[in-house]
Amino acid sequence: MKQNSYDLLNKINFSKVDFARNSNKFNFITKSLYFLILIIILIILYLFSYINYQFQKQNNNIHKSISLLKNNQNNNENSLHFSKTKNFETEINLDKYETNIYNNIKNKIIGFSCNTEMSNIHREFLNGVVRRFRPKKILEIGVYKGCSSSVILNAIQDLDDSHLYSIDLSSKNYIGKCVRTLFKDLLPKWTLYTGDIASKFMEKIGKNIDMVLIDSAHFEPGEILDFIIVLPFLSDEAIVVIHDIANQITVPMFSKNGWMSERNEWAPYIIFNSIRGKTYLPSGKNTLTQGIGAKKLDIDQKKYYKDYFRLLGGQWQYFPKEEYIKEINDFFLKHYDNECMNIFNDTVNFNRKFVKENPKNNLYDYN
Ligand SMILES: C[S@@+](CC[C@H](N)C(=O)[O-])C[C@H]1O[C@@H](n2cnc3c(N)ncnc32)[C@H](O)[C@@H]1O
Repeated sequence: MKQNSYDLLNKINFSKVDFARNSNKFNFITKSLYFLILIIILIILYLFSYINYQFQKQNNNIHKSISLLKNNQNNNENSLHFSKTKNFETEINLDKYETNIYNNIKNKIIGFSCNTEMSNIHREFLNGVVRRFRPKKILEIGVYKGCSSSVILNAIQDLDDSHLYSIDLSSKNYIGKCVRTLFKDLLPKWTLYTGDIASKFMEKIGKNIDMVLIDSAHFEPGEILDFIIVLPFLSDEAIVVIHDIANQITVPMFSKNGWMSERNEWAPYIIFNSIRGKTYLPSGKNTLTQGIGAKKLDIDQKKYYKDYFRLLGGQWQYFPKEEYIKEINDFFLKHYDNECMNIFNDTVNFNRKFVKENPKNNLYDYN
């Protein structure tokens, strides 16, 4: 009996020790769990405030841009080149020109996934340019899913001799998908080249191009280079349409150098405002806020060739692959003189050092 009560006492003592051990273990696990939860909460709070900060930054940028644009408009209401000058009042409003032709396909385009690439006004304008000038040979650089190609093809379907040639650097199978899906009947009027830059295809497409739409990289040298590539192949007084000519200050984006910073897409703005020719814009807007425009080239563009090359001389926002630089160099040698080539070589050499050897200066993956 004595022995039994001794055993019992022992058992109780042992289970007390076990309990103490277990509760220590338990305490350690709960403390660790609390600690982990605390860390997770801190991480979530940090992410939340970071995202919030970036959104606020983006909003501030947009508001800053909008108020700057408003100020500019008010201050310049009476100056020569801003807003609705007399010049613009006498222009034909190309966004209102035979809009019924575009309206026939408007809903189909709006329902397709590339509809955000251009606004409706931009597509109406593009349609108006084609209807007003009735170009025979049309070139498009920058196709993506093919919404702009569809607008052009629809606008030429009753113009028997007109044909659209389109080029896209990418060879992904979504390039031109909108045309292939929604406008199969327009395919006979369309030739699509993919997987390389424009200089690769220009000889095949040939001269006397009456109209070109350029909507490609947007960062420098982007559209400036594309324009110089097509220039020797354009007919006298050809129409050059450039898209996104107001992205230099207005549109936010994800970028390598700052999540959602301003977009800083300068190439279309620079080349559009430098091309020598008569300007057409959608009605009632100015070049600072308007995202598409057309130029009817002055005759004898040769005398401006050097000026266009000089536009390349700035700090590029990306450096094209060396194989493209070589391709462009060989192409330019056939179509431009030594002075142009010297400017080209100097600017390539400068930017090779500046951009290629400093990857953080590279804003765009030129695929
Ligand atoms: C803005 S999207 C074109 C959108 C199209 N114009 C529309 O409105 O539906 C730009 C396209 O240009 C192509 N691109 C970029 N750089 C190019 C280049 N140097 N030559 C040809 N295409 C280029 C891209 O692959 C992309 O598909």
